Amino acid sequence: MNNSEFQSLSLAAENGGGQAAIQRQRNAGKKTARERIELLLDDDTFVETDKFVVHDCNVYGMDKKRYPGDGVVTGYGKIDGRIVYVYAFDFTVNGGSLGRANASKIVKLQKLALKNGAPIIALNDSGGARIQEGVNALSGYSEIFYQNVKASGVIPQISAILGPCAGGACYSPALTDFIFMVKDLSYMFVTGPDVVKAVTHEEISKSELGGSTTHTSVSGVAHFVGRDEEETLMMIRELISFIPSNNMEDSSMRDTHDTAKRECPKLDTLIPEDPNIPYDMKELIEEVVDEGYLFEVMAGFAKNIIVGFARIGGRTVGIVANQPLHLAGVLDIDASDKAARFIRFCDCFDIPVVTFEDVPGFLPGKDQEYGGIIRHGAKIMYAYAEATVPKITLITRKAYGGAYIVMSSKESGCDVNMAYPGAEIAVMGADGAVNILHRKAEGDERQHAVDDYKALFSNPLRAAEKGYIDEIILPRDTRNRILDALEMTQNKSEVNPPKKHGNMPL
Ligand code: HXC
Repeated sequence: MNNSEFQSLSLAAENGGGQAAIQRQRNAGKKTARERIELLLDDDTFVETDKFVVHDCNVYGMDKKRYPGDGVVTGYGKIDGRIVYVYAFDFTVNGGSLGRANASKIVKLQKLALKNGAPIIALNDSGGARIQEGVNALSGYSEIFYQNVKASGVIPQISAILGPCAGGACYSPALTDFIFMVKDLSYMFVTGPDVVKAVTHEEISKSELGGSTTHTSVSGVAHFVGRDEEETLMMIRELISFIPSNNMEDSSMRDTHDTAKRECPKLDTLIPEDPNIPYDMKELIEEVVDEGYLFEVMAGFAKNIIVGFARIGGRTVGIVANQPLHLAGVLDIDASDKAARFIRFCDCFDIPVVTFEDVPGFLPGKDQEYGGIIRHGAKIMYAYAEATVPKITLITRKAYGGAYIVMSSKESGCDVNMAYPGAEIAVMGADGAVNILHRKAEGDERQHAVDDYKALFSNPLRAAEKGYIDEIILPRDTRNRILDALEMTQNKSEVNPPKKHGNMPL
């Protein structure tokens, strides 16, 4: 092959499934695989691997549908100067379907990413297993899933869904750390509307079944949604900026325009005196973190708990916070799953966890009990207790019962526990306690009992007297005390007892 033959082969590979197929891709409102990679990475940093791989399937006319690269563009490049590995399904080539040859390209990249300790990002747009390849396609998926599991907790794995993601194509994303979707463009389901209709007789549209709204607000399968492809890819770049490249690298530091030590006077009046009046926990978080910026994860799902990344003094932290604005910040099944998974990500990648707590308890009711709130709620306890990263908890108002325990209480292994002077730390609220202890009391007698209980427990002193919290702090000192705690714990070294792995409730 001479240079010009090589160049035309290379151009053919870059042309994917041909101009007509590219036009169909554009008509569907989608970018090509290469355009996506270009948008995602720093300029001129993409190095392509396995550009000339082809499949060897000859049935069902596949010998006439052989394109160099075989429908997945693989390689590596940089985001903000840091190496990442990336692969993008090319829908213009056989619908981005997965066969044995392009699966091997992906597996090779997964192994490179793992060996070299850098994040891997998958840009999905695929009809799933290549039907013409039969079990060879399934074998390809198995190997990709296996590598996903081996890499879990070693390098960050990120998936974007930029078109259809059907059948087997869903499971690799589900095994990765974060899933991004695009509004009105992407959908994920194990079986599509036609199969659903045949099996359950339900009529449902593609987007209702597996669109971005479904997965970011109902199922909790996806973590982020962008308005369009550009925004989604920029959100991936932003996520990368918060996290280390692998589990051995220190969590990310970045220069901040914020003053390290500063008071937050607004917090002195943010929390209403009446414990039944809600406030927005996001306002509190934004006062405390660098430049008032929280990169929220799963913002549309289980809004009664907030999780996300922020920086304090330039250092990445994971924020977990009850949200009194939704369901009074109660813990339910979805909130438990959301928080536990996020805490475990932070622990994998050495990111300290800062918890803001205002929680009236676990949500009571038949639906929750039948759904297994006991099993799901236990996940938060497990995740916090297992985590060996620095853990800092601030009780801003209510900390009742089991929810107090699981939200990173002192005895569950938290490093620094603080509370505001108005915090209430008790087995339950005063009304509930009086209903049980003074069942028959009415009128003034009942009111006295409530007042007595409040006097005893509606402050953090009982907990402070026993050392269950380390410090009572003024709200305006929140950022400074958390900064101190992060500095104090920055060389924390704690190791769990040797074991193959724990048996987390699932
Ligand atoms: C082979 C496929 C394909 C597939 C699409 N194509 N999916 N080829 N295997 N799985 C081809 C089409 O034949 C067509 O080829 C081209 O890709 C574009 O597809 P269209 O259907 O024209 O595109 P569109 O109308 O946009 O519809 C996209 C789609 C639909 C919704 C994804 O193609 C579809 O339903 N595909 C099948 C989805 C599916 O059931 N996959 C198998 C899942 S089972 P031509 O040559 O005409 O352009 C699975 C098992 C693994 O994945 C389980 C592991 C756990």
